[in-house]
Amino acid sequence: MLASASDTATASAGPLVPAPFRLLAKRRETADTWTLELEPRHGTPLEFAPGQFTMISRGGCGEVPISISGDPDEPERLVQTVRAVGLATSALCEAEPGEVLSVRGPFGTAWPLEEAEGADVVIVAGGIGLPPLRGAVLRMLAQRERYGRLVLLYGGRAPDQLLFGEQIQQWREQGLEVLITVDSAGPEWIGHVGVVTRLIGRAGLDASRVLAMTCGPEVMMRFVVATLADTGVQSDRIHVSIERNMQCGIGVCGHCQLGPVLVCRDGPVFRYSEVERWMRVREL
Ligand SMILES: Cc1cc2nc3c(=O)[nH]c(=O)nc-3n(C[C@H](O)[C@H](O)[C@H](O)COP(=O)(O)OP(=O)(O)OC[C@H]3O[C@@H](n4cnc5c(N)ncnc54)[C@H](O)[C@@H]3O)c2cc1C
Ligand code: FES
Repeated sequence: MLASASDTATASAGPLVPAPFRLLAKRRETADTWTLELEPRHGTPLEFAPGQFTMISRGGCGEVPISISGDPDEPERLVQTVRAVGLATSALCEAEPGEVLSVRGPFGTAWPLEEAEGADVVIVAGGIGLPPLRGAVLRMLAQRERYGRLVLLYGGRAPDQLLFGEQIQQWREQGLEVLITVDSAGPEWIGHVGVVTRLIGRAGLDASRVLAMTCGPEVMMRFVVATLADTGVQSDRIHVSIERNMQCGIGVCGHCQLGPVLVCRDGPVFRYSEVERWMRVREL
């Protein structure tokens, strides 16, 4: 598609000015979660690193931070997986192909994929915490030889809440070890039942080789960190992605402050040892 002069101007206009992105396709993941595939109307691919997020909005329904769940090696498609929990996220999930959404970014820090080279990488995700890690999984599988074991431990509330079912099967075939658990399930579920931390013991980890990445509800991440520490993983080898309410996304408004850091600018991905004491502070 040809870019108009105003689209091109918007694309180069700085981090507070949104750029128009056309919704190409949407895929339902669960009852309340959709994956949106967008393309920039200005035609410039949105290069990003796995772990980064955009500030995205539809119409006047509010702008929200959403992680990029797409493949970092395919930046011409912006892929984001959104769970409808309120006004802005519901509006995004209701958008129809052809519509134009507003996007700023990408912003924030990335998963430490270079530091992870040679390590056994353990990814622990809870619920909607898997999309922010999806780009990291895709990149590591594309460069499989650079890593030791690649292990995904994934927990959801129920079987019908699990994301990316078919893709996870493909990832298994590409060399990702996957253990899945749900909080509760009917008799038709033959997998694990229980909290995701229980999978850590089942994974047979050599703590001295582990680099861990985790994303999910904060309480889950605290238990994940504690369980990894019990198995001997150092807190500076554990990386967490933190959520806080955001407005500017670029370290200006102070909304996302966590102790001395701004989550949008200094995170959302942090080495756990750097934010350990501040993660005990509840968001107001
Ligand atoms: C860096 C970052 C990455 C994120 N990535 C994703 C993603 O990939 N997919 C996705 O679906 N969501 C993601 N989120 C969460 C998403 O931004 C919130 O769900 C969204 O802001 C809610 O806005 P709303 O107007 O729809 O709902 P609101 O009406 O604002 O809130 C509805 C409910 O969600 C809770 N809530 C609102 N904002 C947050 C938040 N930031 N964290 C936790 N709970 C919140 C509220 O307390 C309330 O209970 C991310 C958040 C951050 C900070
Ligand atoms: S959202 Fe404004 S400083 Fe982080």
